[in-house]
Amino acid sequence: MLLTEFHRFLKREDKERLLHQRGSVIWLYGLSGSGKSTIANAVERQLHEQGRFTIILDGDNLRTGLNSNLGFTDEDRAENIRRIAETAKMLVHQGIITFVSAITPRAELRQIARDIVGPDLFEVFIKASYQTCEQRDVKGLYAKAAKGEIPNFTGKQSQFDIPENADLIIDTETTSLEDSTSQLLKAVAERIS
Ligand code: ADX
Repeated sequence: MLLTEFHRFLKREDKERLLHQRGSVIWLYGLSGSGKSTIANAVERQLHEQGRFTIILDGDNLRTGLNSNLGFTDEDRAENIRRIAETAKMLVHQGIITFVSAITPRAELRQIARDIVGPDLFEVFIKASYQTCEQRDVKGLYAKAAKGEIPNFTGKQSQFDIPENADLIIDTETTSLEDSTSQLLKAVAERIS
């Protein structure tokens, strides 16, 4: 039997009182190059200036450490999302405003996140078509994928399900970074104070 130790530990309320904020998990999902990290970074900087305590869990970065043994099969993506969600849960329980930037391409992956994080989760779909992301090709991955050099590439061999129940949708094809940032900031502000 696993014994958990919670009763003696400081509580979430203690941490939130210290930080003068409520914790929240803002989960940004969408294709590679859709703008997730750019928007998370812009919003985090503004919150930081307002004296908020935040963190960004970025799929790319985590795949160099915590998730470095995982690839892009369905199984590995599920494990990737499970670990990110468990990490986000620990952080939000410390009162931290936690941004996740991860493709999270399938409905079942989003369900994993929902089951683990619970009501603290705020789901934001960063919307941009495959064609747009391919034109932007910030990391040069789409060009490689076109040549068949990236197995299981999201949106190509590996499917991206358009979400049906996102809490917020930001369409980066039609919304400027400035407007995307203020839309997300407004939604976050309602959840953290
Ligand atoms: S997720 O599907 O498991 O949520 P995650 O967000 O962690 O993906 O990682 C996506 C990042 O990995 C992309 O932004 C890209 O830089 C890189 N990457 C490498 N191979 C692939 C691939 N086959 N499909 C998608 N992204 C890939």
